[in-house]
Amino acid sequence: MTEEKKDDIISKRRTFAIISHPDAGKTTLTEKLLLFGGAIQMAGAVKAKKEQRAARSDWMKVEQERGISVASSVMTFEYKGCTFNLLDTPGHEDFSEDTYRVLTAVDSAVMVIDCAKGIEAQTLKLFEVCRLRDIPIITFINKLDRDGQDPFALLEEIEQSLALDVTPASWPIGMGRDFKGCYDLLNDKLLLLDKTNKTTLSEPVLTADGILDEKIDALLGQNDATQLRENVEMAKALCKPFDLNSYLEGHMTPVFFGSAINNFGVQELLDGLVKYAPAPRAQKTPARTVEPTEDKVSGFIFKIQANMDPKHRDRIAFMRICSGHFKNGMKLYHVRSEKQLLLHNPVLFLAQDRELASEAWAGDIMGVPNHGNLRIGDTLTEGEKFSFTGIPSFAPELLQKVRPVDPLKAKHLGKALMQIAEEGGASVFKPLIGADWIVGVVGALQFQILADRIRTEYDVPVIFEQTSFMTARWLKGNPNDIKNFVDKNRANAAQDHDENWVLLARNDWHLNKTAEDFPKIKFIKTKQN
Ligand code: G4P
Repeated sequence: MTEEKKDDIISKRRTFAIISHPDAGKTTLTEKLLLFGGAIQMAGAVKAKKEQRAARSDWMKVEQERGISVASSVMTFEYKGCTFNLLDTPGHEDFSEDTYRVLTAVDSAVMVIDCAKGIEAQTLKLFEVCRLRDIPIITFINKLDRDGQDPFALLEEIEQSLALDVTPASWPIGMGRDFKGCYDLLNDKLLLLDKTNKTTLSEPVLTADGILDEKIDALLGQNDATQLRENVEMAKALCKPFDLNSYLEGHMTPVFFGSAINNFGVQELLDGLVKYAPAPRAQKTPARTVEPTEDKVSGFIFKIQANMDPKHRDRIAFMRICSGHFKNGMKLYHVRSEKQLLLHNPVLFLAQDRELASEAWAGDIMGVPNHGNLRIGDTLTEGEKFSFTGIPSFAPELLQKVRPVDPLKAKHLGKALMQIAEEGGASVFKPLIGADWIVGVVGALQFQILADRIRTEYDVPVIFEQTSFMTARWLKGNPNDIKNFVDKNRANAAQDHDENWVLLARNDWHLNKTAEDFPKIKFIKTKQN
């Protein structure tokens, strides 16, 4: 393969995620993107998955339907010569570290905002993760067919609450019942809403010769045309013009207005992704930066999903390819264990079914069937010893004690918890004193999900109970200082699944006091691999 061909393939990859607060329209937009990307069957699966999620009380049924959840964990589609990999971020209900880790595997994000609600809690949280990694963001303000906030107010809110430059990529004409369409500011096109058309792409009604083009008056009527011009003029005065570098560096977000349910603005968003969103980026390791165009394959595991196929008790490790050209049957070097690993039947996530991966490039996501040897954060290479960094573990916000209903099953429980911790499903700590395990999660609902999983997958009914510990901190320091600390704090010391020591703190005062008493040790909230 020639170098140009390789560069061309990689430069046409777009690996991204959609971030939003629940109900802003992520599922609807995903469906539409897939419809227009030709993955029509998938679109149905996204909706089905969402509906199943809604039936919260019936969690296990959801688990049985994991087939759907696999297919829509990574959705691949083609549009205008680009290959898109859309990574699903879990919704609010099952919000966990998983979401953060998925964002380590993307090159850009689309932020969906409900025009009536503006920036909401979950949007903000996810945005902060993107910012930490300088992930460029395109904003899609959705539901313009409903009454919402004034577009200027929305832009100001984004700018203020996210400390980000905003620039409108399109400008809406009316809102709610009066919503007529948008003027595409980047391409000088007038797009009018056709409410009867929910399944095909909206064609621009007019390619205008600038905003002053008289044809706009003819199509919109005098009043709307004048109003549009005033608004556009004001927006141009208030907002900086679109600056590609500023967007790519994560300082500026272009804002598209639309209505996902009406297919409106979706094509412009897709065109925006084709034109502006970054191709696979270079990835850092402490040893060196790895360029996507390098010949040798490398990648990292960012997510592990258990028992996705009810017929096989398998686990799939999701690997983001960072460089090289992967071909089926390749052996890769597993840096942590220093062993060669034959990747049996890796899967790509095309259309509805898992498809056997025959080849993959930087930016692609591959599912690797895993029998316990791969963990989140692991790096695979063609032999070079380096490790991608930055895949985070967060100090859990909620801790509970867990014990088996049948005390004879303590060992089984230990094994189950270890596996779950390795998959990143929860933090698991073994205190130095006592027989109980402490489990840490980010959202309260996760305890219930874990109890269900341990009972059904490992046949160990368990009881979660309150504990006097509030949070955990990883210890960083030289080994002697850590040993000294552990000796003096036996009642509050524990180890995680990787045998890293942690402090289990009872409250803020306890945490602060301990930090004062042991100045040589750092008490860390986020562990990076
Ligand atoms: P989410 O994944 O972000 O949680 O949001 P989702 O797409 O499920 O959308 C949430 C609700 O908002 C859905 O209504 C959906 O139909 C609606 N919606 C999405 N885009 C638009 C839009 O452009 N305009 C309007 N008016 N509504 C939109 P629902 O009643 O909760 O579900 P459904 O019965 O319609 O599926």
